Amino acid sequence: MKGSLLLVDDDRQVRESMGQWLREQGYKVELAVDAETALTALGRKTPDLVLADVRLGEDDGFTVLEFCRKNYPQVAVVLLSGYGTVDMAMESIRSGAFDFLTKPLIDAELEICIQRALSQRKVLEENSSLKKQLDLRYGLDNVIGRDHRMQRMFDMIDSIADTKATVLVTGESGTGKSMVARAIHRRSARRDKPFVEVACGALPENLLESELFGHVAGSFTGATHEKPGKFMQADGGTIFLDEIGTASPAMQVKLLRVLQELEFEQVGGTKTHRVDTRVILATNEELSEAVAAGRFRQDLYYRINVINIELPSLRERLSDIPLLAAHFLKRVCDDTGKAVRGFAADALTAMQRYRWPGNVRELQNVVERGVLLGKGDMVQLEDLPPAIRNVAPSNTQTTDGQTLKQALEGPERQIILSVLESNHWNRHATATLLGINRTTLYKKMKRLGLDDGQEGAE
Ligand SMILES: Nc1ncnc2c1ncn2[C@@H]1O[C@H](COP(=O)(O)OP(=O)(O)OP(=O)(O)O)[C@@H](O)[C@H]1O
Ligand SMILES: [Mg+2]
Repeated sequence: MKGSLLLVDDDRQVRESMGQWLREQGYKVELAVDAETALTALGRKTPDLVLADVRLGEDDGFTVLEFCRKNYPQVAVVLLSGYGTVDMAMESIRSGAFDFLTKPLIDAELEICIQRALSQRKVLEENSSLKKQLDLRYGLDNVIGRDHRMQRMFDMIDSIADTKATVLVTGESGTGKSMVARAIHRRSARRDKPFVEVACGALPENLLESELFGHVAGSFTGATHEKPGKFMQADGGTIFLDEIGTASPAMQVKLLRVLQELEFEQVGGTKTHRVDTRVILATNEELSEAVAAGRFRQDLYYRINVINIELPSLRERLSDIPLLAAHFLKRVCDDTGKAVRGFAADALTAMQRYRWPGNVRELQNVVERGVLLGKGDMVQLEDLPPAIRNVAPSNTQTTDGQTLKQALEGPERQIILSVLESNHWNRHATATLLGINRTTLYKKMKRLGLDDGQEGAE
């Protein structure tokens, strides 16, 4: 079968003879006399293509077209008319019709039009499913991660990106907080407006205040001109306040006000300014602890902790290491023209044993260095820094304060993971190699957080 069509025409003769001819060409054809019948038929079973006469008794083909565009955007619509005018043809294309044909129809013309519509639809479908697969496998906006925690985070980013909600991004240094902040901005309707980044920890308090809110001329020594400040620059866009945990008590008060009211005054100024800015904050400190210790205002903490995106450390998602390493490897090769294909197995194993205190940033540096130092077409164990090369397998797990079961989980996870990886996540092969049955493997994977939606060929 070449495809399914819905033919809408109020002229019985046209309907039946065209229907007949199309069936002979190998299409599956449904017939409808008017727009109403057509809409019911569409709801029952969605065809690949709709052929609709423009003039249908009281309604017209544009009703069907509009309905399809709105409810079934994947269905191609071709409008037919007995008295085609250029205007009408233009209007139908503008309204989203795939094509506009004038009756009497020439068979060959109709057939070619249908084939073009169907093949275009196929390309669109393939592209969107390919894109979905890529998104699912690699992540979002260059933020890479296949680990289930990362996948959950991508879903969260997608659902909050286009709101104005304040977002707090937390995670150890180098886990990708700044990257995530940028991804949120890029996936919001503010994407064409400024994304303004302020490293709050890098400036002393008085300078930070003028950096954020600006100052008027003469407000302090050296302030010869008026300066607008980052909040004003970010009007309509997003401001990203990094290292928020370092803000002084006085700064915290000012931030609370600007977050609550989006109002502030420039340093030394009296005029109140208002801005429309989305605020994203990041910290690698445990803010709740800073609150308990009295270093961070509780009211400010509540105000910024509306939506918390927590980035896992790299050691919590060891299964992402091969993917990330391959990504960085490709990038260095593209940048430098080096032709390195991958990592020797023992190099990869060492990387998965290491604890990565500097997280993804450290991994990126290690890969870059390895590629640049390496002589052959693979990064070898000896191309890695000693700290990684020399992690002895038995040293990676400490047993302090853990039960035997907990202490064994680390190595167990490691073993299962590496067998899964080397068998392209094929569970059957993995279970056989490990000498356990598949159900046991599934249970263990689930318990060890390894069931992150990987599809292996079974
Ligand atoms: N998931 C990821 N996918 C790809 N690259 C990543 C990922 N996470 C981090 N990186 C890379 O690692 C480096 C550090 O990321 P980023 O600056 O976003 O971390 P951070 O959490 O903001 O660090 P810091 O706490 O030091 O500010 C960047 O070069 C970034 O490109
Ligand atoms: Mg950062």
